[in-house]
Amino acid sequence: MSNEKLIQTSPRRLFLGNASKVVLSASAVALLGGKDVLAAGKPADVKSDIAILNVAVGLEYEGIAAYAIALQSGLLSPSHVKAATKFQDDHKAHNDALIGTIKKLGGTPVEGKSIADYAKALEVDKLKNEDDVLSLAARLELGATNAYLSVIPALKDSQLAKIAGRLAAEEATHFALLNFDLKRPFAPTMSFGA
Ligand SMILES: [Fe+2]
Repeated sequence: MSNEKLIQTSPRRLFLGNASKVVLSASAVALLGGKDVLAAGKPADVKSDIAILNVAVGLEYEGIAAYAIALQSGLLSPSHVKAATKFQDDHKAHNDALIGTIKKLGGTPVEGKSIADYAKALEVDKLKNEDDVLSLAARLELGATNAYLSVIPALKDSQLAKIAGRLAAEEATHFALLNFDLKRPFAPTMSFGA
């Protein structure tokens, strides 16, 4: 299955789809980037912010669970155990930031599902070797990259757009490293976020 096809079926696509309807406000992205001062005094559609941030939290929980499953699979080589641990730590940090932002906005963060539920949704029973595990991770990372990129055009403040871009860059880095290790062709020019 091609990357493009996989993205179309990824739950992360939900984030991409919702982003076009529920715009992440400048204030929420400022909080996400740790710039509380920037958020102060700006109008915010709090309800919309919380809704889209909670979608992102759900997706980050999925990513954290996917790496937990990968690390528990016994299928990863030592170098990939190291990479998966680092990538999972990044997703935990993203989620901490998202959850902190939701709370600052007065919302209630969604809860993660059980590992068993994620394992079923991600069809991990079909993972038979290391490449299968890395392919799953690459699919989720590409989806995350495109999801974060999708909110940039809606931002009016260039500094806030930069923060969303930084998150996308981190996910793109994860994807690129996995893609390289899978010995797949480089991503086509300007394919991210297209
Ligand atoms: Fe990632």
